Amino acid sequence: MQIVLIGFMGCGKTTLAQHLSQSQGLSWLEMDALVCQKTHTQNMHEVFAKGEELLLREAEIAIAKEIATQQNVVISTGGGVVLNKIVLDYFKQAGAFVFYLHANFETIVERLRTDRSRPLFQDAIEAKKLYEFRLPLYTHYADHIIDVDTRSVAEICLEMQEIICGL
Ligand code: S3P
Repeated sequence: MQIVLIGFMGCGKTTLAQHLSQSQGLSWLEMDALVCQKTHTQNMHEVFAKGEELLLREAEIAIAKEIATQQNVVISTGGGVVLNKIVLDYFKQAGAFVFYLHANFETIVERLRTDRSRPLFQDAIEAKKLYEFRLPLYTHYADHIIDVDTRSVAEICLEMQEIICGL
């Protein structure tokens, strides 16, 4: 089984992947961390300083190819993986089940209000443009859409577990 979580920055992919992997007895892979490993950087600001967005996107494609063969894993992606079709193609070809974690833009702004870790979320107006551009892409790749606005991590995990059990 391979579960892939997609969604915009701040929707909770990392937290939910961690919880889901623990409750399901699966391993957990975090693509942003793998990008940093591959590009010999410490964080996303360093990735962008080293090679701008292109370095990130190339690394995401290479990593997706490498990890798509893994089974019994929950993969938390970076919010921009939907920009290159090939990334989701690698996962889907390997039989992954893709959850799109949908949060309203207002929820995301609130969650990231004091977080400066994301180079592409420095300015809410620019981030909103990205959000609107990407919404149809997330929906397109989703096998199932989960609303994450008002519910706790435990509640969301439970919903995902129920869906996984029915697969
Ligand atoms: C990005 C999202 C980030 C990270 C990078 C770019 C994006 O991951 O990959 O800063 O383009 O949306 P998170 O979604 O985990 O914040």
